[in-house]
Amino acid sequence: MAMLPPLSDPRVLVGTGTADDAGVYLLEKDRALVMSTDVFTPIVDDARDFGRIAAANAMSDIYAMGARPLAALNIMCFPDGELPFELMAEIILGGRETLLEAGAVPMGGHTVSDRELKYGLAVIGEVDPKSIMRNDAARVGDALVLTKPIGTGVLTTALKNGALDDEGLRRVTDVMMILNRDAAEAMLEVGADAATDITGFGLGGHAAEMAEGSRVTIEIDVEKVPLIQGALDAASDGHVPGGLYTNQHYVRRRAALVSRADGHTLSLIYDPQTSGGLLIAMAPKVVEAFDRIMREHGHTAQRVIGRVIDAEEKPLRLV
Ligand code: CO
Repeated sequence: MAMLPPLSDPRVLVGTGTADDAGVYLLEKDRALVMSTDVFTPIVDDARDFGRIAAANAMSDIYAMGARPLAALNIMCFPDGELPFELMAEIILGGRETLLEAGAVPMGGHTVSDRELKYGLAVIGEVDPKSIMRNDAARVGDALVLTKPIGTGVLTTALKNGALDDEGLRRVTDVMMILNRDAAEAMLEVGADAATDITGFGLGGHAAEMAEGSRVTIEIDVEKVPLIQGALDAASDGHVPGGLYTNQHYVRRRAALVSRADGHTLSLIYDPQTSGGLLIAMAPKVVEAFDRIMREHGHTAQRVIGRVIDAEEKPLRLV
C-alpha cells in the first residue's frame, strides 16, 4: 500500500495510512461503515469447517475495529470440472452458518473459475465513530492482552504434512472458528485503548505495527504467550510455514531480543495466524473486568502477555 499515492477524503476515518485492520467510511455524524475482505486457500480438509473459519477470519478485522458485522459477500475461486459443486455448496454453507452466528446477513457473492480453490468474504460492518478501536492508540503503561492461543500456522502445516492427528486437528479448527465478537464487546465495555487482530503477520508483526503506529515500544513476555496444544511440537518437528520465515525476516530486526526462551518458542511469535485472537492494549486496572466478561461468555484462553513502555530504539522488545 505504501507504493500508492496517499488519498485524503474527509469521509475516510481510517484509511490505508496506518496499517489498520479495516477501512472506516463516515456515513453521518454517529454512523460509519467498516469494510474488510480476505480470501485464502483451504487450510483444513472439511469443506464446512473451511467455510466457517473463512467467515470468522473475515469478520475478525471488523471486530478488531470495535465494530459489528452487518452483511457479507462470498468470493469463491473454483476449479470447474475438477471438484464437485457440492463442495462449493458446503463451503458456502459453513460461511453462512458463521455469519448467522455473528448476526450478519449473507448477501450472495461471486464465483470465478480458477485453477486453485480459494474462498473468502468481503464484510461490511457498522460502528459509532466515537467507539472506533484503532491499532495506533496504545498508551505507555497499558497491559497487553491476547485473547486466543497462537500456533495455527505450524499446526495447519503439520496437517498438510500428514503429521497432525484428529484430536490436534479438532483443537486448531475450534480455535480458528471462535468469533472475536465477545472479545470485541468486552474491550469496548472496559474502554480499551487500542486493538488489532492477529493474522498473517503473526503476533510479532501485528504487535510491531501497533507499537510503531502508537509511537511506543511493546514488550512481550514470550513465556506468557498462550500456545495451542501441540504447536511447540509442530515447530520443533519442522512443520514451519513459509510465512513464518517471511515474518521473521521482516520483524526480527524491529525486535530487541532479551528473552532466553528456546528458538522454537521464539519462532512461534512469527507464526502466521488464520483467524487469530485480538491483541488489546488496555489500562492494567481494567484487565480483571475484561477477563471476567470473557469468562462469563465461556472464554478462558485470554492472557496478559506484555505491556506498553516508552518508545525505545526498536518497537518490539521480547523478554
Ligand atoms: Co486485521
